[in-house]
Amino acid sequence: MNLAGKDLVSIRDLTKEEIFFILRKADEMLPFASGKKKTRALEGKILATLFFEPSTRTKMSFETAMHRLGGDVIGFSEPAMTSIKKGETLADTVKIVDSYSDIIVIRHSMEGAARLAAEFADSPVINAGDGAGRHPTQCLLDLFTIMKEKKKIEGLKVALVGDLRYGRTVHSLAYALALLGAELVFVSPESLKMPKEIVNDCRELGAEPRSLTNLERAIKDVDVIYVTRIQKERFPDPTEYKKVVGSYKIDMDLLRHAKDDVIVMHPLPRVNEIDPEVDRTKHALYFRQAFYGVPVRMALLSLLLGVDVR
Ligand code: CP
Repeated sequence: MNLAGKDLVSIRDLTKEEIFFILRKADEMLPFASGKKKTRALEGKILATLFFEPSTRTKMSFETAMHRLGGDVIGFSEPAMTSIKKGETLADTVKIVDSYSDIIVIRHSMEGAARLAAEFADSPVINAGDGAGRHPTQCLLDLFTIMKEKKKIEGLKVALVGDLRYGRTVHSLAYALALLGAELVFVSPESLKMPKEIVNDCRELGAEPRSLTNLERAIKDVDVIYVTRIQKERFPDPTEYKKVVGSYKIDMDLLRHAKDDVIVMHPLPRVNEIDPEVDRTKHALYFRQAFYGVPVRMALLSLLLGVDVR
């Protein structure tokens, strides 16, 4: 399978076979990601990171991934310190950065920004989150985490909880889980329900997602609880945010209603959706999940650059 030169803007850009291929490659990257094994496979290659929105995990795990592969990183996370401040367009910025680098990672507040960047760059472009749109690399590391823990995806019951309206991670993940044959339960306040087009996409893929507002009832027989933050920054009206903030909290009391082997995932950052008490339990997967961003992004960088890592 050859992914060299491809863009990754949406998880929809990948077939089921390509997703599993990337996950298998990510598994091979684990010893390199942890530093146990060394490689210089991407020596001479340059990754450009264009972060128009804040990030800890995505930006730093891409950087770690590139460094672990022996490549170099350029980029910015403060667009106000670039010529964008002087009125340069996104298209011009991308064209320039394209001429300085071999692969581009972009995060932007505007849905569609990564697709636009992909149109203007010859090098592969990876979407690191576009507004409330998509977050395909988060999706891949979420799938990788589930595979590592549960050894399969087909037939698993997964609850997606919280801000399903604006949460780009759950938009990508719902589609991918439906594609790979998981059963979906959507848990959110009425005002933050999963967008209809994503529910319809899931249905077209053969899934019949259930939508619930009661978390206790929803998690009774699920294998995975995937929690998201209610994202203050995405609400056009702050009073609407105040109405729903704190709607759901995963704590020890709640987990008594779940299966003994349930895993709790979260793309992070969390605010108060998960009680820190849960961190010490076998259910808490979110920190390992964040680490898995490194091998998954190592796999992606090497595959899109067409370089074999040994
Ligand atoms: N999960 C995620 O995208 O985290 P960051 O915003 O820190 O990159």
